[in-house]
Amino acid sequence: MTIPILIDTDPGVDDAMALLLALASPELDVLGVTTVFGNSDDIRLMTANALAILALAGRDDIPVAAGSAHPLTRPYAGRAHLVHGDNCLGGVQLPVAPRQAEPTFAAQFIVDACRARPGEVTLVAVGPLTNLALALRIEPALPKLVRGVAIMGGSARASGNITPAAEFNIFADAEAARLVFGAGWEIIMAGLDVTCSPRIAEEYLDRLAAAGNRAGRFLADAFVHYLAFYRSRGFTGACMHDVHAVMALVRPELYTAERVCIDVETAGELTRGQTVADFRGLWNRPAQTRLLTGVDETIFLDEFATRIARLP
Ligand code: RIB
Ligand code: CA
Repeated sequence: MTIPILIDTDPGVDDAMALLLALASPELDVLGVTTVFGNSDDIRLMTANALAILALAGRDDIPVAAGSAHPLTRPYAGRAHLVHGDNCLGGVQLPVAPRQAEPTFAAQFIVDACRARPGEVTLVAVGPLTNLALALRIEPALPKLVRGVAIMGGSARASGNITPAAEFNIFADAEAARLVFGAGWEIIMAGLDVTCSPRIAEEYLDRLAAAGNRAGRFLADAFVHYLAFYRSRGFTGACMHDVHAVMALVRPELYTAERVCIDVETAGELTRGQTVADFRGLWNRPAQTRLLTGVDETIFLDEFATRIARLP
């Protein structure tokens, strides 16, 4: 039984890895891709990247809908092209996709897809949560219409990566994230507690490229700039953040996790965007989040490389 999913993304090098993993996983049926600001505030670029990645994988059949170009209420606070390169794909120029995005706005596209298949669709969000928050505004009953939500975002016990307290996707639109965590659905959270390991470098990139397919070569090339950014910050390797939100759906047994209630700080001068985890049940609120806390790194890496090698 395949799991129908929608992927909301700000592609991004690790977004591209996550999207290609989803396309290479027979357990998943990618119904559509929606784009959101994040790694760049140029939504046309985010959408062109999504279309190009799908074309690379031979999946021009999967619809793409462009979404929000900015956070719900605050100005864009991204780091633009610092981490992922000028075109957010490490400077790698993919062939322009032979088609356009759908005319439907991402939030409406999400609502329409979930209404069409009530209780079946899992929303996979690997960028800021603005589109999901807007979808909740359109359809307040959305939590009853989805099978689940899996996100890359947040940090429960680990440090932040955009501020000491916050991870980038949550920080980028803390108001949206608070609405998403408070919506009443169950959330699988692949936060920095789990997404910072394993870190990869040239040896693994060579392994991806050695498969000889377009997808492996593209990821190996796109990762070079992303890896250089991490090296400039003193790390020996780079994180495959977004991949974990997809891998947790196809190989859940690779992960350790705990259930916890999480809420999002939106006002703190130092802590805006922090995902606050109530590990001791002090709030007496439902533990809506399956917080991923660890992964079998060896199998994760083998699984990723094996699946990517299946693509064109
Ligand atoms: O903090 C990691 C997140 O920020 C990932 O989704 C990456 O793509 C960037 O958007
Ligand atoms: Ca992302």
